Amino acid sequence: MIVAMDGPAGCGKSTIAKLLSQRLGFLYINSGNIYRAIAWASIEQAIPLESVDTLVALARALSIAYESDGSICIGTKCLSAELRSAAVDAIVAQVSAIPEIRVVVNRIVRNAAENRDAVVEGRDMTTVVFPDAQAKFFIDASVEERAKRRFMQGSSSFSYEQTLENIKLRDEIDRNKAVGALKIAPGAVYLDTSGLTIEQVYEKVNSKILHLRDGHGE
Ligand code: DC
Repeated sequence: MIVAMDGPAGCGKSTIAKLLSQRLGFLYINSGNIYRAIAWASIEQAIPLESVDTLVALARALSIAYESDGSICIGTKCLSAELRSAAVDAIVAQVSAIPEIRVVVNRIVRNAAENRDAVVEGRDMTTVVFPDAQAKFFIDASVEERAKRRFMQGSSSFSYEQTLENIKLRDEIDRNKAVGALKIAPGAVYLDTSGLTIEQVYEKVNSKILHLRDGHGE
């Protein structure tokens, strides 16, 4: 069974997707981390964002392995904290907007999930990569709530106001991509998580999955 989950930055989908995968015993796939790994490699190789052809060639040439704990290995180098660095944050949206790079990432995600039970998350898992997934969710929350959650995580030196502006900018990019834009897929369950706890969101998503798994359809 494929559980596909999309939503904007900071909506909490990674937390929910990880929890689901642990409790259901499914593989967890965070597609954003694959874009981040390509962005990280482009920084390592000092390829500027304007050199789109070189970036695409790099993405195609990288040997990217997806680990079930959500970390990514490029050859023998396994990345985790690196994927969340400020340098990667600064360019990953632009890297993910390149259509040829999206093709590379989609292939990695589909291969990792092939013949597996998996929870896959990102921006276009329900629309482009797994439009026929048995369970599709669009996880949302107000922009203020998402900025608050990110700010409370305290992993960066940005103020709440800066975090809010940053999230608004990322929303703009995510929703206006030529390919793979963030949209609510037909048949997806829309869930506004503003004001809900993680366990409350988990319960809602999990009961829907169990219902679908028992063959009850949408
Ligand atoms: O979920 P995240 O913030 O780690 O994603 C990193 C970037 O990749 C972000 O700019 C959105 C983009 N992304 C995408 O375009 N499509 C996906 N399926 C996943 C992420």
